[in-house]
Amino acid sequence: MTFKIANRASELIGGTSILKIESLSKLAGSDIFVKCEYENPGGSIKDRAALQMTEDALACGALKEGMTIVEGTAGNTGIGLAVVGKSLGFPVLVVMPRGQAHEKERMIGLFGAELRLVDPCPFKDPNHFYHTAKRIADEESNRYWWANQFENTSNYKAHYQNTGPEIWQQLPKLDCLVSVAGTGGTISGTSQFLKEKKPRIQVVLVDPDGSGLKSYVDTGAFASSGSSFTEGIGIMRLTQNFAAAKVDQAVNFSDQDILTISRFVRDEDGIVLGSSSALNVCAAFHNAYKGQKSRCILTFACDLGERSYSKLYDGDFLKSKGLDENRNMDQMLGSW
Ligand SMILES: Cc1ncc(COP(=O)(O)O)c(C=O)c1O
Repeated sequence: MTFKIANRASELIGGTSILKIESLSKLAGSDIFVKCEYENPGGSIKDRAALQMTEDALACGALKEGMTIVEGTAGNTGIGLAVVGKSLGFPVLVVMPRGQAHEKERMIGLFGAELRLVDPCPFKDPNHFYHTAKRIADEESNRYWWANQFENTSNYKAHYQNTGPEIWQQLPKLDCLVSVAGTGGTISGTSQFLKEKKPRIQVVLVDPDGSGLKSYVDTGAFASSGSSFTEGIGIMRLTQNFAAAKVDQAVNFSDQDILTISRFVRDEDGIVLGSSSALNVCAAFHNAYKGQKSRCILTFACDLGERSYSKLYDGDFLKSKGLDENRNMDQMLGSW
């Protein structure tokens, strides 16, 4: 067994473990694994993009000593940048929409970054968190470097150069990769790398309600219905990072299915999934259950389950959304 010894927290990013979900694997007749991205020092897969974007900006001179990193984010990229910023000596300003889980707001402060909350609004509104972060950097370009995770393809590169090769080394027998998308960096980088190695690997995108990516994959146009309490995933526009994704199939599951699978996996396997991770696992299980048996399917546990405490694991919140904590696996399978 090898153990990591690092000189700074950012050196601990990547090299995450893979965990089999025994209960679902048995039920479906195929092996279902999660890559444990919550092991990253900032507690999510976004640490990888944060590190690559910062290193590339330093290398090309866009980010210089004395500057502050600014980014608009649903939270996890902000936490990742806070870890990387502290490790490499840069202050970080995080612009986040109000209404995301308080757990993430707290972590940004704990890692010593400055947090600016803005009201949630449609993307076309200039006060959207994305435009606010860009404006801060545009107005003082000598002081701020904008990470721009949606369009900065260093994000994709993090997964093409690191996450994909790790998966290939850990699971060469992989048949199917399942992933949510926010910026699209994860699914693009890993799908590109893995399909280069093994073209027959099936890549499945999973979308929450309210996101238009499934419609984009199916028809070439963005359309959506409903909404979801998941955070950091789903989008209604094509990003540079998603544009590189090699997707074979797109699927969608409701918040109720996310809730049912999260309870089953917690009760049967002792794994507490965050909401985007539960959506990933739901789609991986669906693929396994409905498809050919004895395959190897991998998805991501994108962040710490604790980060979903105030939504996915809060009874009052779930009730307010009309969701049923007691709906069981048999009922879910009956609806499939
Ligand atoms: C919890 C969580 N899961 C998944 C993702 C999606 O990752 P990507 O931006 O690489 O598509 C994000 C992105 O912020 C996230 O915060």
